[in-house]
Amino acid sequence: MSDNIPRPIRSYVLRQGRITPGQQQAIETLGARFCLPFQKSLLDFNTVFDRPGLGHSPTVLEIGSGMGETTAHIATAHPEQNFIAIEVHSPGVGSLLQKAAQLTNLRIIQHDAVEVVEHMIAASSLAGIHVFFSDPWPKKRHHKRRLLQAPFIHVLALRLSLGGTLHIATDWAEYAEEVLATLSAEPLLKNTAARFTPRPATRPQTKFETRGLRLGHEVFDLVFVRV
Ligand SMILES: C[S@@+](CC[C@H](N)C(=O)[O-])C[C@H]1O[C@@H](n2cnc3c(N)ncnc32)[C@H](O)[C@@H]1O
Repeated sequence: MSDNIPRPIRSYVLRQGRITPGQQQAIETLGARFCLPFQKSLLDFNTVFDRPGLGHSPTVLEIGSGMGETTAHIATAHPEQNFIAIEVHSPGVGSLLQKAAQLTNLRIIQHDAVEVVEHMIAASSLAGIHVFFSDPWPKKRHHKRRLLQAPFIHVLALRLSLGGTLHIATDWAEYAEEVLATLSAEPLLKNTAARFTPRPATRPQTKFETRGLRLGHEVFDLVFVRV
């Protein structure tokens, strides 16, 4: 990239993560069936989820699915809903694919979620958005990399249908307070609790959460509804 073109600030750094042979094989054999390419046009969920009789199912978007345990668990538990998982790292995509072979209600987009939401997700189209353990970027000079900032939260709120929910979880107390303040200031969203909410039964414990709990971190869930 030329020096005078500003680079967008991303919420992730793409590392040459080690991909296992199993993850690689899952991408090669299942990628074409499950993965949607990034495009600068809106997705039609009915076409994407070609499920006779279930085409109009509520669609839930997950940002940063990581290794995909939670994603696969929730998609398996809710066959009546469609799930779109966004994740930039190939090992995570491969890992989710390894768990997803039997699922007909899941698609994956390997691209920056900010661009995916902006270009591919129609206004008022989502029943839910999950953002579980988004990187907290703890150093102050890195806070600008945090995914959950006011402008993006507004864009997310616009993508929810009325009554749709934005569910966020984090184990970083200071980020949790910042996100709570930002969500509370967004007029399109209303908190379902006074502040944080106990982990809803619909969210199984994630890999990062287990690590955070082991380190003695408290976990914070926020569930806001689109009004
Ligand atoms: C700390 S991990 C949490 C993963 C998983 N949700 C869990 O709880 O185990 C955050 C994930 O978000 C992904 N991520 C961060 N920013 C992203 C973005 N802008 N678009 C897509 N994925 C992103 C990272 O690659 C990483 O896998």
